[in-house]
Amino acid sequence: MSERDISTVGVIGAGQMGHGIAQIFAQSGFEVTLQDISREALDRALANIERHLARQVAKERITEEDRKAALSRIHPTLDLSEIGKADLVIEAATERESIKTAIFEDLTPHLQKHTILTTNTSSISITRLASRTDRPEMFMGLHFMNPVPVMKLVELIRGIATSDETFETVKAAVLKLGKTPVTAEDYPAFIVNRILIPMINEAVYALYEGVGSVRSIDTAMKLGANHPMGPLELADFIGLDTCLAIMNVLHDGLADTKYRPCPLLVKYVEAGWYGRKTGRGFYDYRGEEPVPTR
Ligand code: CAA
Repeated sequence: MSERDISTVGVIGAGQMGHGIAQIFAQSGFEVTLQDISREALDRALANIERHLARQVAKERITEEDRKAALSRIHPTLDLSEIGKADLVIEAATERESIKTAIFEDLTPHLQKHTILTTNTSSISITRLASRTDRPEMFMGLHFMNPVPVMKLVELIRGIATSDETFETVKAAVLKLGKTPVTAEDYPAFIVNRILIPMINEAVYALYEGVGSVRSIDTAMKLGANHPMGPLELADFIGLDTCLAIMNVLHDGLADTKYRPCPLLVKYVEAGWYGRKTGRGFYDYRGEEPVPTR
């Protein structure tokens, strides 16, 4: 099945995922419109992208010209209708279904006929999100990992109606980024989070039941299983609110008690201790060095 050419990309949401996605597409030669409802979020995103690109120049991975060219390809906007002009749209807004469906409903009247819609959701049903648009056959999941510029994997998830042409077009764009795609079926949390988040939840159970301390659990998995980060450190990195939301999607979607969220994870989220982004989670990040909170 043939694929179509993608040259313009619209990214909705300039947060942790959105700004990384905008950066790698711009570095790979695509024209990128980056939209957010918050001017501060857009400013922060551009500052982060500039910092990452400057670091790559300092390390002689890219030239000063590459840096300037990439930045000139990113067009920030507060106006969602601007996104409709792109060949490929990637929704990377807050991980809440009501927010995502509202965005797709607002965006639909502005879309070109050929625009492919994708979502960076980490766990919500692609088929259900697609059903809220006018083009389920041109809709699919495109799930990047955090930090986007570093992680090699992208999950491609077809909804029940996704056409072969849509799938091949998106896959070709991912290959142009130099990333490795894997195909996942549209079941709760796809592949990476189906396996990773229950492992993190199990680490929280080990802490809750006193099997080990925060430090011993993280050290055990770093040195005993060669993971780059321990599971609790990784949970703080992903966000404990996100980890809990994904556990709930697994628990509700698969109706199996093996996915029940650990009460200690729930307690941290209730406290607003979401991890790095709020300054405290399984570690306290407010001082010079992270300090375990238990
Ligand atoms: N954005 C961009 N680049 C980043 C970055 C960020 N947030 N954090 C680190 N990097 C880059 C650094 O600039 C550095 O690049 P250079 O080699 O060019 O200098 C490189 O990554 C390595 O960074 P560091 O040397 O500072 O640190 P490290 O060696 O400890 O690596 C890490 C950091 C890459 C984050 C590593 O700890 C790691 O791989 N951790 C696991 C990450 C992971 O599992 N991610 C998946 C989360 S799950 C997910 O995303 C799915 C979901 O839906 C929840």
